Amino acid sequence: MSLEELWNKLKSATDCKSLLKKYLTPEIYEKLKGKKTKCGGTLKECIQSGCENLTSSVGIYACDPEAYDVFSDVMHPILKDYHKVKELKHPAPNFGDLSKLDFGDLDPSGKYIVSTRVRVGRSHQGFGFPPTCTKQHRLDMEKKTVEALKTLQGDLAGTYYPLVGMTKETQKQLTDDHFLFNDSDKCLKSAGGYNDWPIGRGIFFNKDKTFLVWVNEEDHMRIISMQKGGNLAEVYKRLVNAIKTLEKKLTFVHHDKLGYLTFCPTNVGTTLRASVHVKVPKLSAQANFKEICEKFNLQPRGVDGEHTASVGGVYDISNKRRLGLSEIEAVQEMRRGIEEIIRLEKSLEK
Ligand code: ADP
Ligand code: ARG
Repeated sequence: MSLEELWNKLKSATDCKSLLKKYLTPEIYEKLKGKKTKCGGTLKECIQSGCENLTSSVGIYACDPEAYDVFSDVMHPILKDYHKVKELKHPAPNFGDLSKLDFGDLDPSGKYIVSTRVRVGRSHQGFGFPPTCTKQHRLDMEKKTVEALKTLQGDLAGTYYPLVGMTKETQKQLTDDHFLFNDSDKCLKSAGGYNDWPIGRGIFFNKDKTFLVWVNEEDHMRIISMQKGGNLAEVYKRLVNAIKTLEKKLTFVHHDKLGYLTFCPTNVGTTLRASVHVKVPKLSAQANFKEICEKFNLQPRGVDGEHTASVGGVYDISNKRRLGLSEIEAVQEMRRGIEEIIRLEKSLEK
């Protein structure tokens, strides 16, 4: 479809509730339709996914880092709305003082939290995002990342497994165990996220699979720390130590006002998603479960990730906002919310 056809489809949709539909007005469309980023990225690449998938909640991706400025008329209101901020300013990175964290295990009883995970996304300086990336760019980024990963020591040291050559059985097992990504997200597919699949993609992990890095999934890099149980402090410290080591070798795209830039506007800022798989059968059976999560700025997802279902009352619950607050604040927002969620679940057991 051409840009005009995509736009007409979005414009005539009556039941589309995406942020793209809300903020791409005819005036803004006219203003942006001819614009291009330096590496040739266009509005079409940004809105293709949201126009093809009218059930999207956001509906836009950045064709490359510059898109956040070139297409700011539509990007900025979407960023403000999703992250619930009045103005677009983002604090300098602040991971807090790791020796003085005022949280530890969020569920010492082990009854509610199955596992804890914190991830960030990072984009390499000098490369576009998926729709403007070539096969060679993906291979170059993979090489750069793998070189940097070799510098990790101690419990962060591990091995890189490219997707090319990985058996289907191994891929399935790693995916079922919540470690690996796949190519099944319709929105990401429309946005060019699976172009040249599986070339340049892969996963790195340590011996215990508590530290992992995804290469060229939605973002150039996803840096992940996870483990069984509710010890958020251990998970967070491991992640921060890894980020600090990788930063010595790699240069990541960072914007004065918006923080770290990622392919999807929902991740911009800290790019941090701290989640627990938590058993809340009673609370999740309440009609207002989503609103309760929303009240604490939390987002519930199914156990196999975004757009999947819950199994046995277990939900993936994480901080929704990533922009306009620091990394440690995002983690604290999730921590406070999860403590409340567990308290509410307990109160329903009585
Ligand atoms: P993200 O954008 O953070 O990568 P997804 O929703 O795509 O999120 O999930 C990626 C994978 O991480 C999925 O397999 C999901 O089940 C897994 N996951 C997320 N949070 C947790 C958690 N707290 N414990 C175990 N696995 C998790
Ligand atoms: N583009 C999709 C939508 O608008 C996903 C948005 C957030 N998820 C993500 N993986 N970036 O619904």
